Amino acid sequence: MQSPVILAIESSCDETSASIAVGGKVLSNVVASQEVHAAYGGVVPELASRAHMENIIPVIEKSLAVANASLEKKLSWQHVNAIAFTEAPGLIGSLLVGAQFAKSLALAWNKPLIAVHHMQAHVLANLLQDPAPEFPFLCLTVSGGHTQLVLAHAPLHLEVIGETIDDAAGEAFDKAAKMLGLPYPGGPLIDRYAAEGNPKAFQFAQPQVAGLNFSFSGLKTSVLYFIRDHQATDSNFLENNMADICASLQYAIVSVLMRQLKRAVKETGVQRVCLAGGVSANRGLRAALIETGKKMKWQTFVPPFEYCTDNAGMIAITAHYKFLAKEFVGLDACPTARAGW
Ligand code: KG4
Ligand code: ZN
Repeated sequence: MQSPVILAIESSCDETSASIAVGGKVLSNVVASQEVHAAYGGVVPELASRAHMENIIPVIEKSLAVANASLEKKLSWQHVNAIAFTEAPGLIGSLLVGAQFAKSLALAWNKPLIAVHHMQAHVLANLLQDPAPEFPFLCLTVSGGHTQLVLAHAPLHLEVIGETIDDAAGEAFDKAAKMLGLPYPGGPLIDRYAAEGNPKAFQFAQPQVAGLNFSFSGLKTSVLYFIRDHQATDSNFLENNMADICASLQYAIVSVLMRQLKRAVKETGVQRVCLAGGVSANRGLRAALIETGKKMKWQTFVPPFEYCTDNAGMIAITAHYKFLAKEFVGLDACPTARAGW
């Protein structure tokens, strides 16, 4: 059996996930998504914590079963070398469920504990593809809660070189979708409508900020006024133009992201470029990355979708490197909602 064997738990928002990694290879990545939030137009923290408590034991048990399905020599819990959990950032009630569970297992089984930063894990999810990017690489992490440009020097040496000063890219998609009357999360729906529409049909603001940071709040305001003005003269405007509006919106968000990514490549001289986070599922963004990559001779990488959205596989691969570096924490480790690292 290769080592280390890591059991990783992710519970920062509305996905309960567990993963087993052996020798740096992820053998299972079980995710239970919480449908309960759809009716509320966003994640309800208290409901998320409760759902994590219901899901966590079955998800962890399944992670071992799935890992064993691919192994000749079966694993049992006593083979686990360390237990990892997401310590920040996230909803504090959600984080606490995963952290307390990990600590209880570490205490009961007398195993070391590894605390993982969720945003670092999103970046290292890129190591779960074949071929994986070599270091150094640039990563654009785009999710519902975060938008960051990270220069990855080594697995445990990640430098944030740009981030959003207001809304995250996923939030921009979701808030715009809400204004268009689409259900939460609206990002995937905008992507779907956009495929049938003309990205040049309408123009939305593409806010610019200094350096490598991002801003999306101006775009949100421009969508609000755009809808108000058109609906004043045509009450069916949204229904009749949904595909073109979505395509134009997606074009604006992707343009903001790609502009800063190009700047980052220019400033750092690093031409290996990766995506991470739930928004990397967006077809417009993927196409823009691939097209720009070809034109600019970048090497581009996008992890498989199951490792883009919140998942414990990315926590497991990060914990693998922390295990090798002997970065353990005590039972007094405490999760925090804040984002910095
Ligand atoms: O990384 P993630 O699963 O969760 C966190 O926020 O941490 O990202 C979720 C976000 C949501 O805002 C969702 O609307 C967006 O990713 N998203 C998309 C697409 N798929 C997911 N946005 C645009 N196009 C998509 N295809
Ligand atoms: Zn995330």
